[in-house]
Amino acid sequence: MDRIATIADLREAARRALPRPVFDFIDGAAFDEVTLRANRDDFRRLRFRQRVLQDVSSRSLATTMVGQPVSMPAAISPTGLSGVLWGGNGEIHAARAAKAAGIPFTLGMMSVCSLEEVTAAVGPVWFQFSILKDRGLVRSFVERATDAKSPVLVLTTTWTVSGLQSRMVRNGMSLPPKMTPRTIYDFASRPRWVLRTLTGKKVAFHNFEGRMQVPATLPNVGAQLDASVTWKDLDWLRGIWPGKLVVKGVCDREDARLAMDSGADAVSVSNHGGNHLDSAASTISALPGVVEAVDGRGEVFIDGGVRSGQDVLKALALGARGCLLGRAHLYGLAAGGETGVAKALSIIRNELDVSVALTGLTDVRDASRQILWPSDF
Ligand SMILES: Cc1cc2nc3c(=O)[nH]c(=O)nc-3n(C[C@H](O)[C@H](O)[C@H](O)COP(=O)(O)O)c2cc1C
Repeated sequence: MDRIATIADLREAARRALPRPVFDFIDGAAFDEVTLRANRDDFRRLRFRQRVLQDVSSRSLATTMVGQPVSMPAAISPTGLSGVLWGGNGEIHAARAAKAAGIPFTLGMMSVCSLEEVTAAVGPVWFQFSILKDRGLVRSFVERATDAKSPVLVLTTTWTVSGLQSRMVRNGMSLPPKMTPRTIYDFASRPRWVLRTLTGKKVAFHNFEGRMQVPATLPNVGAQLDASVTWKDLDWLRGIWPGKLVVKGVCDREDARLAMDSGADAVSVSNHGGNHLDSAASTISALPGVVEAVDGRGEVFIDGGVRSGQDVLKALALGARGCLLGRAHLYGLAAGGETGVAKALSIIRNELDVSVALTGLTDVRDASRQILWPSDF
């Protein structure tokens, strides 16, 4: 880890650590990956106004996200199956690193480790799910989140139908993997990952195991995705969950207003990292419209393309309260388990701190458009 300076370096380390199909699972996105690239590129296009001689000797990165104190304006974004990146226990490793760094960890419903396992290891975490065909299952998630003292539920709205993951097709990948000479080579060339996986926790959807009428296989869990969900379902969810609710996947002004009308405490501007709707607008370009539409009725988070502390500060300058870190933490997890995620978070924290200082701020909460060089957004 000593020679790793940026999240891009962690991505390279992840590439070296993972069999190609597994790396492509976290690194790739839907169809032509236009949105995956746009999310990153549009962050990079923004520039800061550099300010000097402002006495920035004492600085604070601390803030709150939906009322929860955070040491910097970031949380771990939910990612399905990320346990596979580190011995089947990846979610616990990532959650430990998040806790040590003083930021929230969001466990995805499609994780390997169950909510109860992660909570037992690190204490209460945020929990993400989608509204599924089996509303009884959704209700049971809410009850389990209540029992696990999860302070925040994140409702994902962007995955009601699945975008084709082109790299998975090109890699001839299926879950579980079919063993062809090429896949055997791909996996055999990463013996450490293979050994850790074979000796680690059984890879399965542990949040679903034993809770469905049918085995919790990928096709059966995937068949639960419900394209008929509407804002009325959000009203129903709001009625059974009294805690904080974040609606993830709001990129449109009208959706932002509807989410607020349904009682969301926050929205996350998210296109699911480009994993489903390709050619969706980048999240940083959608952020200002959502902030305007929310109009202070709730908080606005953003995920998609956040790869540095500079990106975090740019998002705050455009009105976000905090960022959710998806691939940025996955690369760290794949490269070094808990240590790798800790590295990712310390890189982002240091970059954020330097950027805060040299844009003339002493408190990250004071970020506004004033720190940005005039641009299109
Ligand atoms: C491998 C992978 C799995 C994901 N699984 C989920 C999931 O189960 N639920 C969810 O809400 N978002 C999921 N996401 C989306 C992330 O939460 C987040 O929106 C996205 O990664 C942000 O884009 P970025 O990683 O390019 O920053 C996943 C993303 C990746 C890369």
